[in-house]
Amino acid sequence: MRSVHDYVEALRVGRPFAQANYGDGEWGCLLGNAGKNVNGEVYEPELAEGLRRTLLEPVPGMLFGTNPGRRLGPAADRFIADHGLKSLAWVDKEILSGANVRGELRPFLEALRKRDVVLVGPQHLMGLPGYVVGLHDFVLVPDATAWREADDTASVVAELLQARPDAVVLFCAGMASNLMIPTLWSRFPDATFLDLGATLDPYVGRFTRKGYRTPEFRLERKWRNLGFYDPRQYWPDRFELQGEHYVAGGGHQHEHERQVELVVPALRGMLGGMVSTETTLRVLDYGCGPGRFRDELERLGYAYDGFDLIPELGTVERIEAERYDAAVAIYVLQHIVEDEEYATALHDLHRGLKPGGRLLVIDAVIPTLPPVPGRNMHMAPRGAGPIEDVFRLGEHRLLDDGHWVGVFEK
Ligand SMILES: C[S@@+](CC[C@H](N)C(=O)[O-])C[C@H]1O[C@@H](n2cnc3c(N)ncnc32)[C@H](O)[C@@H]1O
Repeated sequence: MRSVHDYVEALRVGRPFAQANYGDGEWGCLLGNAGKNVNGEVYEPELAEGLRRTLLEPVPGMLFGTNPGRRLGPAADRFIADHGLKSLAWVDKEILSGANVRGELRPFLEALRKRDVVLVGPQHLMGLPGYVVGLHDFVLVPDATAWREADDTASVVAELLQARPDAVVLFCAGMASNLMIPTLWSRFPDATFLDLGATLDPYVGRFTRKGYRTPEFRLERKWRNLGFYDPRQYWPDRFELQGEHYVAGGGHQHEHERQVELVVPALRGMLGGMVSTETTLRVLDYGCGPGRFRDELERLGYAYDGFDLIPELGTVERIEAERYDAAVAIYVLQHIVEDEEYATALHDLHRGLKPGGRLLVIDAVIPTLPPVPGRNMHMAPRGAGPIEDVFRLGEHRLLDDGHWVGVFEK
């Protein structure tokens, strides 16, 4: 295995393989050092003995992943030389984890989704969304002491493999993975066994490695790996990383100011005229975020309700039927990528408005341009088209920079 492509090909054509990884933790332990690895697994003599055996009595055909730049280089190199292990099939264990951090893992995850996958991992991975690797079975292991139960866990996996001998078994079970993979590979030559370490952590919201803790990774590369974005993780992540600035291109002050410059006159011109002195009108700010336009809407005389995917930012948790005289969706609909979710948003807006109520939409796109798939995956501008299926289009215009504003009527 020399590239992501090699893994993808093996998965695609159903060519079985087995790879266990020997990183700093495994080397530290098997060389008899004291301490523990990054996951808190303590280097105990019995575990060290097990790890040594996996190298000294290798199961034929196994791949051994290791990091060429490892911290214990010289000591590990000496162990390899002293025990004649140079001829083992060593591969770079960072191929998949590196591709993950760089946002290049998509073909691998796509290939996994077409296979029957069993995941052996700790509790936090039980929440792995089905869309990540198309999981069919999960075998739970304890967090830092999985190796003590390696034999029992391997028996559970073996039982699953009796019925599906060509499944792909992914291991995120720390050093226990190195003990289980050889045992299982010797019994199930048609199955694939792969040590994935912490590769899947970010997909359950755990940013356990340095490379996962950058905004580029959390806001772009992670989603590029998946091939889509999940707004229910993306927006709270963006809010957590960037605070209240998350709304305008990730905290670019000039972009925020430009948006305010465009939006405020649009609100005044298109919603200002509706207000009378006799009754208070109520407005719904759909996808309100931190409520940038709340003050302006209140200044125009509206009673304000905000609703957002991030519940703590809204002032209401759900949209009541026919409660609103007006609604605004400012830089929101452009981010709803899934057709079904888009239809739900329009339906909710329609339901929330009183008959004759107005919806004002502002998106940062030229409505006649089709979305460019994959270019920026949290943007799928559709323009007025689908909204016109539900509402009557009123006044609309193109503002500067491709920003677009339209008023619709129920
Ligand atoms: C770019 S921000 C704009 C926020 C605010 N309208 C503004 O202009 O300051 C997009 C907001 O839409 C929210 N959002 C995304 N999809 C949504 C949906 N389907 N329903 C409700 N809110 C959504 C996000 O949580 C985020 O707060």
